[in-house]
Amino acid sequence: MENIIKSQSGNLTESRRNFLEKAGITAVFGTLGLSFFTSCTSVDDLDPNSPNPPSQNGGITISGNTIRIDLSLQNRLASPGGWLLIENVKTLVANVNGSFVALTSVCTHSGCFDQWAFANNRFICNCHGSIFDPSGRVMQGPATQPLQQYTTTLTGATLTVTR
Ligand code: FES
Repeated sequence: MENIIKSQSGNLTESRRNFLEKAGITAVFGTLGLSFFTSCTSVDDLDPNSPNPPSQNGGITISGNTIRIDLSLQNRLASPGGWLLIENVKTLVANVNGSFVALTSVCTHSGCFDQWAFANNRFICNCHGSIFDPSGRVMQGPATQPLQQYTTTLTGATLTVTR
């Protein structure tokens, strides 16, 4: 699994950077077109002897094709316009006017998966400028095919994405 730690602001402390590198999984978060980067750990990757409980993953747990996001821990999605890219499972999640949508982050144009922005309820692939609506439909090319949409279910404070 790719172990890339990115920081747009470049202000990660060394201890946090070490923690993120040990976590081994990167999630990219953004709000209103600004990207932020943090870490999550999937259940699949947890060492059974690890002292790190799932709650240390920013509220995101991944098991097979299921992503569970504890919205009480992961507040990037709390407000309309909030969004995140869970990079290691190539999934975009956004709060669109109070409802949640999830899509593949693999752009149908030429496969970029980590250069996304979200603004005005549009996903923008910054590789070549394709724009998609929240259901994945192409609003502007060069992409011609929609992004695959995933099922989302909200139960209490848990948002479940089924890929
Ligand atoms: Fe997304 Fe080209 S890969 S627009």
